[in-house]
Amino acid sequence: MAAILPSLKLDPMHPAVGARVTGVDLARQIDTELAQEIRDAFTQYSVLCFPEQDITNDHQADFAALFGRADTADRTKEDPDNKQSKRGVMYVSNIKENGKAIGVLPDGEMHFHSDGAHRDTPYRATTLFAIEVPSVGGETKFAGMAAAYDALPADKRAKFDTLQARHVFNYNKTTREEMRREDDVAHAIHPLVKIHPDSGRKSLYVSRLMTCNIVDMEPDESEEVLQSLFDHCESPEFVYEHKWTPGDLVIWDNRSVNHARNDFPADERRMLRRYTVSEPDAD
Ligand code: OGA
Ligand code: MN
Repeated sequence: MAAILPSLKLDPMHPAVGARVTGVDLARQIDTELAQEIRDAFTQYSVLCFPEQDITNDHQADFAALFGRADTADRTKEDPDNKQSKRGVMYVSNIKENGKAIGVLPDGEMHFHSDGAHRDTPYRATTLFAIEVPSVGGETKFAGMAAAYDALPADKRAKFDTLQARHVFNYNKTTREEMRREDDVAHAIHPLVKIHPDSGRKSLYVSRLMTCNIVDMEPDESEEVLQSLFDHCESPEFVYEHKWTPGDLVIWDNRSVNHARNDFPADERRMLRRYTVSEPDAD
């Protein structure tokens, strides 16, 4: 009998980044061939959206594990659905139960960032599954940092190739101003330009929320260079804006994509389920 060909269908969502993936049910076993096709699509598009999925926590953790080490530490104190596995799950939500927040990053706008940039070994990827979404706002924006790098003039690319920057993290802070308010925050230094291990493409590794300063540069000059880089990377030319529908599972590559969130009404419920993928040698 002829082998049944995998029916994965890819539709690019933006010229710089992102594809919509249909023809796959993530609640079913993913065989090695299909897993490789999904990984190849991830390398090519950096952001994948799988719409109309009906998946449990464990399905999402298994999906994350296709891309590396799915994080399994129990990070929730309150699980909104206690029939579900809690391993490694986190909720991004503004919902409160008995006066207590059930998730993290509850409200409003978030500046562009890359998850884990403040750690020596940042997250490789992040997955979000939409459970409840507001009627307006709350879109997540993805900036293709390889396309943003490629669009720079050659002299700037050569200069940025040699620089390093310091990234900070302050729990639940969502704007550059708030993030930088305290001195004593977790931080790490990374090259300003990263080479992707799978695609070989270079990309800019800076973000408005987390990049504090360029190493060995005067503060004023550093801030000027960074602000112009943030403006460059956040141009619509490089940014795909995702309007969520419940059932969307999105994965993005934190090594080559920055993400941000639009504001949304505080009196509407928003809940996404989050699993991260770590590098094998991360702590
Ligand atoms: C995250 C994040 C953005 C959003 O989960 O890391 O930045 O749209 N989420 O909630
Ligand atoms: Mn994030």
